[in-house]
Amino acid sequence: MKESICLGIESTAHTFGIGIITDRSKVLANVSDSFKTVKGGLIPHELGVHHDEVKDKVLKNALEKAKIKLNDINLVSFSQGPGIAPALIVGLRFAKYISKKINVPVVGVNHCVAHLEIGKLLTKSKDPVLLYASGANTQIIAYESGKYRIFGETLDQGIGNFIDSFARYIGMGFPGGPKIEKLALKGKNYVELPYVVKGMDVSFSGILTNLKVKYDSKKYRIEDLCHSLQETVFAMLVEVAERAMAHTGKKELLLGGGVACNKRLQEMCNIMCKERKAKLFVPENQFLVDNGVNIAWLGILMGKIAKRNHKGIDIKPYERTDDIKVMWK
Ligand code: ATP
Ligand code: FE2
Repeated sequence: MKESICLGIESTAHTFGIGIITDRSKVLANVSDSFKTVKGGLIPHELGVHHDEVKDKVLKNALEKAKIKLNDINLVSFSQGPGIAPALIVGLRFAKYISKKINVPVVGVNHCVAHLEIGKLLTKSKDPVLLYASGANTQIIAYESGKYRIFGETLDQGIGNFIDSFARYIGMGFPGGPKIEKLALKGKNYVELPYVVKGMDVSFSGILTNLKVKYDSKKYRIEDLCHSLQETVFAMLVEVAERAMAHTGKKELLLGGGVACNKRLQEMCNIMCKERKAKLFVPENQFLVDNGVNIAWLGILMGKIAKRNHKGIDIKPYERTDDIKVMWK
């Protein structure tokens, strides 16, 4: 049988990405263009404008990289949610446009589930607990009875947005995660911060306020604050992930999301997994952050429900991981 090729479009937040993958899981291209700012944060309307401006160029680059023509594509997928509406709409419209142009079916997929499925594919983990730590999302997810269930999550902002907010406060621009990680390496003294785990959920907004007050007081070295920030919030994530593993009896931990690029978070997860004789799986950075291949692979898995007519195909800015029935397992 001939290989089938899926083109996936990611546009939930700051990244506009196109990934191309075959149904035999061969990655042909992964091209992205991300919105960046020196000052300020993500403004929804500006994300839409950015994605609209770069979409044709990203598509052209992806096809060149994959060494195929648009007509070689057999299926189009796009991330329908969760995400920021003006950004999502660009992906939706582009997916519909391409699918009409080359007369192939289109399917909308869930962004969080896509992080999990690409991680499983690339690391060959079988039945992991996913620690999904990204800009807007922070969730501990695992498969149980037909769905990917959320065992714990943030009660307010995502961990990445929390880190970015503090970085912005100290004048570091966006994205702040890599810069805070660098500064933290030079931190020596742990400064006590609130540790906020409620049941299986975590919360960051109080910690952010506390950090801002400490920063303003000028009593602490910024490197020490960054070090303490990482030690505190990563410990919170590891605690909840470990409890989810204990509860479900699962022996694998998979990382996903841009914050999972952080080496200290990876190290802490590794220590926890070793202690409980579990295995840690970390995909390459390009598949941890938002990207089109995640979306293309879930498109392949969900290809059966793809449609040539576009009736009912729309964005779902508030869609939750556990709204999705996992019918491809
Ligand atoms: P979502 O998946 O919720 O749509 P997102 O669009 O913000 O999130 P990602 O690309 O997964 O997407 O992650 C971006 C986030 O990752 C930013 O908040 C960024 O600061 C953070 N990040 C990237 N690298 C690091 C790092 N080394 N340490 C900590 N955080 C990092
Ligand atoms: Fe993401």
